[in-house]
Amino acid sequence: MRAARKPGNPQDARPGRRGECWGGAAGKAPLRARHPRPREAPVTAAGAPAAPFPRAAAATPEGPGTRRSRQGPYMNDHKALILDEVRKYHQDVQTSGEFVPGVTEIWPTGAVHDVEDRVALVEAALDLRVAAGSRARRFESVFARKIKRRKALLTNSGSSANLLIVSALTSQKLGDMRLRPGDEVITVAAAFPTTVNPILQNGLVPVFVDVELGTYNPTVEAVERAIGPKTRAIMIAHTVGNPFPVAEMAQLAAEHDLFLIEDNCDALGSKYDGEPTGTFGDMASISFYPAHHMTMGEGGCVVTSNLAFARIVESLRDWGRDCWCEPGESNTCLKRFSYQMGTLPEGYDHKYIYSHVGYNLKITELQAALGLSQLDKIDDFCAARRRNWRRLREGLDGVPHLVLPEATPRSDPSWYGFVLTVDPQAPFGAKELVDFLEDRRIGTRRLFAGNIIRHPAYTDREYRIVGELTNTDVITTQTFHIGVYPGLTDEMIDYVVSSIKEFVRARG
Ligand SMILES: Cc1ncc(COP(=O)(O)O)c(C=O)c1O
Repeated sequence: MRAARKPGNPQDARPGRRGECWGGAAGKAPLRARHPRPREAPVTAAGAPAAPFPRAAAATPEGPGTRRSRQGPYMNDHKALILDEVRKYHQDVQTSGEFVPGVTEIWPTGAVHDVEDRVALVEAALDLRVAAGSRARRFESVFARKIKRRKALLTNSGSSANLLIVSALTSQKLGDMRLRPGDEVITVAAAFPTTVNPILQNGLVPVFVDVELGTYNPTVEAVERAIGPKTRAIMIAHTVGNPFPVAEMAQLAAEHDLFLIEDNCDALGSKYDGEPTGTFGDMASISFYPAHHMTMGEGGCVVTSNLAFARIVESLRDWGRDCWCEPGESNTCLKRFSYQMGTLPEGYDHKYIYSHVGYNLKITELQAALGLSQLDKIDDFCAARRRNWRRLREGLDGVPHLVLPEATPRSDPSWYGFVLTVDPQAPFGAKELVDFLEDRRIGTRRLFAGNIIRHPAYTDREYRIVGELTNTDVITTQTFHIGVYPGLTDEMIDYVVSSIKEFVRARG
């Protein structure tokens, strides 16, 4: 056991507002930190117009074409005119929205964009500050407050967020507590690939446990059984928004001195014990791909309240640099030419000193602009997902031969999708049901990889399995999900329910 192994983890401020979809009681200490592609659906207009987000101050010039001298009353009038035209254009391209059963596509996932999203993107384009700047910083600060973490670090995808998190835990800055090649990380095989990949990419060994049918998460007991002498971390996704028992998992991690990573990519807005998922572990990832609860087109985020972890993630994201100056800044530490690091000569420019073997996984300002506009609507998006899931759940209750999804006890999921498993004893297979639904233009998706170790990419990889992956294999053949995203209407959902019932009645 390593003593006091978490680096400088200051008090978690946990600010938050009431009434937010993932808001909860502010000020409660967190447990660990406290004790510690699918196709994109067509753009759909959101029902309620959102209040415009307060605009960021003028962007830092990025090139000669954006000099402030060119900005003036004339330019601002011109911009206002252009944005008015964008609003008119948005009205023009709206579709009637009439739903024709069997003809209109019912997408399993999709982004919901309104006029303010379109305006925000065009406005950011007009500013021509493309690299991450003030909007990105603003998003990070608003989002961190919203999810009640001290730091939110934007990155170009949820997959990158997972890669940054695991890579950060291998940093030499963590001294003895760092993860080293050969160390084991407990996870599940019924996974999205990029939850597992960063483990392999960092020379670590995934240890797979089975999940339950219905919740599609592992139990704490299954994870506990998998802990061995080389185990150093647990990294699990809240499957399709359904929280795994994360408070208990954090307790288990604390008892065994393990890092806990929450892949929260599918679960923005979900709660466990009234607290947002993504706030129980050492770090958590979020995806802003269009299939997810809110979107930047492409994008992701790492959230943590551990400032030491945050600093390492930032370094890895930004080329591995040791310097933390924002673009356009040069000497925020006031010691730019006074450092001596590695075997570099004293005074080597800190802006070009690298303390990690890093990447460039940053986003653009345009993505941040869209993110800010979408963030205004996230509570409505989460509410719609919960409503749609409930309508499906109530509509399908009692239908034979199907395992219906169940929320994990003590949780309030902000659902990503509605998962169905066809009972292996049923007189029909999942494929037949999927074919029937797809014929009716009801979109379906697999539960991601099914059993990931059955995929060619993982054939020669080192891993350990604890117990049998029985349910994971059932998932591979019998499980799929349908949509709950906010672009779906009651009419569409009722058509999905009646179609499934019709199929089961005919085949059951
Ligand atoms: C559980 C999970 N983790 C990670 C990701 C990766 O997110 P992204 O597509 O933004 O890379 C996804 C994508 O859907 C996911 O479902």
